[in-house]
Amino acid sequence: MTKTTLGLVRDLAAKRMSIASIAAPIPRAGELLVEVHVSAVNEMDVEVRTDGWAEYVEKFLGVGPVVTGFEFAGVAQSDGERIRSGDRVVGYVHVVAGPRTHAGLIAVQESDLFVLPQPLTFRDGAALVSMGLTAIEILEGLKPVSADQSVLVLGAAGGVGAYVVQLAKHQGARVIAVCSQQNDVWVRRLGADEVRPYENTQPLQDGDAFDLVVDAPAKWSFAKCRPHLATDGMYVTTNPFMDQAGFDTAATTTQKAGHLLMLTTTPQKLSRLLDLALANVLRPAIDSVYPASEADEAFDRFATRGKQGRVLIEFQV
Ligand SMILES: NC(=O)c1ccc[n+]([C@@H]2O[C@H](COP(=O)([O-])OP(=O)(O)OC[C@H]3O[C@@H](n4cnc5c(N)ncnc54)[C@H](OP(=O)(O)O)[C@@H]3O)[C@@H](O)[C@H]2O)c1
Repeated sequence: MTKTTLGLVRDLAAKRMSIASIAAPIPRAGELLVEVHVSAVNEMDVEVRTDGWAEYVEKFLGVGPVVTGFEFAGVAQSDGERIRSGDRVVGYVHVVAGPRTHAGLIAVQESDLFVLPQPLTFRDGAALVSMGLTAIEILEGLKPVSADQSVLVLGAAGGVGAYVVQLAKHQGARVIAVCSQQNDVWVRRLGADEVRPYENTQPLQDGDAFDLVVDAPAKWSFAKCRPHLATDGMYVTTNPFMDQAGFDTAATTTQKAGHLLMLTTTPQKLSRLLDLALANVLRPAIDSVYPASEADEAFDRFATRGKQGRVLIEFQV
């Protein structure tokens, strides 16, 4: 008899997600079976729910009935070379080619996994993985900063922003956060030195000379931010397709525009993320946790303004 598991499926006509019984995956060579305990919601998931990202949805549909979810924390159910059955693991799958992770059981490449160390919980792991890796990609890859430098984080209370604030502060920079007024205290607790609430303050001001501007919601551009960058400052957007003109200009100036396109990860990157979490440099930022039966509400929560960090979905209780 075919083994089954629970997975989030979408009703495109109703633009809703619901939980259904689906066939459990059978791992192929190089893959491990993982029982997902907690996953997270991403903007792409919310867009997939309503058939956005059409090109990607088509690719995801080749994967199975579950078409949302990119990260997870759970328990390995089979042995690999590094990972053993029963290990607590955390993972981030290939954005285009990987399986989607909003399911009770998934088959994942072992290279996308790392052992989740104590005392981190499944919720911690799921909340940290994709956006923590993004912050590392920006601040240890594209533009490390130092004590005499300043960083502007646009969208500081969201998933990307919460971890960029923490890591930039850890590197010693002065951190200026742009978020809603209601999240002022919360982002200061993460490490922001100054908050510019977007309701009543200009995020970009005369006299700014930021070494790094991180545009998490990808609502700004290199051209808009350039007058507010230091001579060798960098503007980084989470959506490299939104500002092609900016990248062309930046190729000829001392100020730079950063390309961020994190399609996949490695055990080394996951290891680095977990080291930073264990050292309390990156603390899990969890807005809310929903049971899988209320996944549609979790998607709605993600799309609501004013959240604080990550929205999680729990598949095992
Ligand atoms: N390219 C890559 O490799 C990569 C990697 C990771 C993420 N991403 C992308 O990065 C984006 C952000 O992801 P996320 O998880 O951080 O999303 P999120 O949790 O929704 O955070 C976005 C933040 O931006 C703020 N925001 C939105 N519009 C704004 C505006 N006009 N002015 C000021 N603030 C605004 C929101 O604040 P309010 O809630 O107060 O409105 C929210 O805090 C997504 O599109 C995601 O797909 C890309």
